[in-house]
Amino acid sequence: MSGAVFFIFGATGDLAKRKLFPAFYSLYREGKLGENFAVVGLARRPRTIEQFQADVKQSIDEFARYKIDDEAKWTSFSKHFEYMSLDINDMEGFKKLKSLTVGLEEKFQTGGNRLFYLALSPELFGNVSLNLREGGLVETEGWHRLVIEKPFGYDLESAEKLNGQLREVFEEKDIYRIDHYLGKEMVQNIEFVRFANAFFEPLWNNKYIANIQITLSETVGVEERGGYYDHSGALRDMGQNHMLQMLMMMAMEPPSRMHSEDIRDEKVKVLRSLRLFETAEEVRENVVRGQYKDGTSANGKPMPAYREEDSVNPESATETYFAAKVFVDNFRWAGVPFYIRTGKRLPVKTTEVVVEFKNIPSNVYLAKKHDLQPNLLVFRVNPMEGIYLKMNVKKPGSEGVIIPIAMDFCQSCQVGINTPEAYERLLHDAARGDSTYFTRWDEVSLAWEYVDRIAKAWSERKDDLKFYPAGSWGPKEAQELLARDGFQWWPVNGQKEGEVEWVVTV
Ligand code: BG6
Repeated sequence: MSGAVFFIFGATGDLAKRKLFPAFYSLYREGKLGENFAVVGLARRPRTIEQFQADVKQSIDEFARYKIDDEAKWTSFSKHFEYMSLDINDMEGFKKLKSLTVGLEEKFQTGGNRLFYLALSPELFGNVSLNLREGGLVETEGWHRLVIEKPFGYDLESAEKLNGQLREVFEEKDIYRIDHYLGKEMVQNIEFVRFANAFFEPLWNNKYIANIQITLSETVGVEERGGYYDHSGALRDMGQNHMLQMLMMMAMEPPSRMHSEDIRDEKVKVLRSLRLFETAEEVRENVVRGQYKDGTSANGKPMPAYREEDSVNPESATETYFAAKVFVDNFRWAGVPFYIRTGKRLPVKTTEVVVEFKNIPSNVYLAKKHDLQPNLLVFRVNPMEGIYLKMNVKKPGSEGVIIPIAMDFCQSCQVGINTPEAYERLLHDAARGDSTYFTRWDEVSLAWEYVDRIAKAWSERKDDLKFYPAGSWGPKEAQELLARDGFQWWPVNGQKEGEVEWVVTV
C-alpha cells in the first residue's frame, strides 16, 4: 500500500471507536499499513494529542482483534496519530488543517495521498466536501479519496442532491461509499463459490433453482438510535443497501474480468432487471411490513414495544421488519422468486442466504416412493461464517430409506473469530484504490428507485402495518407470502430441528 494521511471526521464518535481505530491497528499489526501513514482525528471536541492517543488505545483494548501486548509496537503505532479540533463550518480551521497535513506528509513521507473518511451524519457530507476544496486539501500531488458511510440519502431525490454536492469536489472514481456488508468475508465469498466451482454455476438458473431466500435477522431493538431509525425504518436501513447488495451478488452474471468496474457493471445489470412495483396493490401483495410490539426474548426477558423505545414516536408507523418477494426479470432468473426479509427483535442474530433447488423429476422412482427434501445451499454470513449443503442419501443399513444429510463447512469454527473485520478490509481496499466492494452511484440510485416505490405505497396506506411480538419471527403474513407459492422460510442453518440426521463437518 502506498503511504497516505487518513482524516477521520467524527473521530470522537462511535464508529471511529468501535470499528476504525481497531481496523487501523489490525492493519498495522499485519504490516499492511507500513510506516508511511498518519491518522488525523477531527471532531469539534477539544482533545490534546495525548488524550486522543489514549482514546485510541482504549478503543483498541476494547474492540480490536489484536491485543496491545508489545509496548514498543504500540508506541510506534500511536506516534502516527494526531488530533485537531475542527468546527466543520469554520474555513480557518480547514486552512489550519492544510498546514498540519503538509507537516505530516513531510514527516511520514506519505506521497501527498489523502483519504478523507466522513464518519459523520450525511447532512454534513456536502459541506465538508466543499470546505475541503476551499481549504486547499484536495489539491495534492498524490491521490485524494472520500470514504462515506450510509445512509446515502433518504430517497432517490435526496440521494441525487447529495451526490451532486459530492461530485462538485470529487470524481466518482474517488468516492468510496461504504456498505459494510460488502466487506464481510462470506458476502465476498458468494462470488468465489459461484464462479470457482464446476458444480454450482451450471445449476445457477431458473431451470434448477426454485427460490432464493435472504434473511438478515437481528435480536436487538433500536437501542439508542430511535431518532434515526424512526425516520428511516427497515426498508431504508437494510433493504436499500445490504439486502439488495446480497441479492446482486447472488444474481449477477460472471464478470468478464475480476476488475472492480466489471464486477460492478454486472451488479448494476441485476438492479436494472428488478421488476419494479407498478401499483400500491402490487406492493401490498408482495411486501409485508411489520413493527414489533412488546414480547419476550429467547431467554425469557420482557422486551418493550417499538413505540415505547427512546426517541420513537409513540404512534410511529415505521417498520422494524419487512419481507418481500422480488423478481429479477432476465433470462437466468425469470420466474425465480427471491424472498428477502429483515427485522429487529427477531429470535436470533443471523444473516443467511439459502438457495433452494428444484426437486428432481417426480417420475424418477425414488421421488415417487419418498417425500424428498429439496437440496439446499446455504451461505452463512453472520455471525457464523460458512457454507452448508443439504442433500439426500440412503440411510446406512436400511432398505432404501432416504435421509437428508448436511455437509457443513464452518469457516468461523476453523479460523476462529479472528477473521478480519469488514471495516479492516474496506479501509485497506480504499487506501489501495480498490473500489470493488464499494457502491457505485448507479447502484445507489437504482436501489433507491426500487425502494422508493415501496415506500410511496406504504406512505399512502398506514393500515398495512402488521404487528409482531418482540422475540418472534415477524408477522404471519411473511409466512403466507411464501406459502402462497408452495414454499416456506427455511429455518436458520437450513434445517428443521431434528430433521437432519447427520451433519458432516468439513
Ligand atoms: C447497519 C444498520 O447498517 O447494519 C443497523 O444501520 C444494523 O440497523 C446493522 O443493526 C447490522 O449489521 P451487522 O453487521 O451487525 O449484521
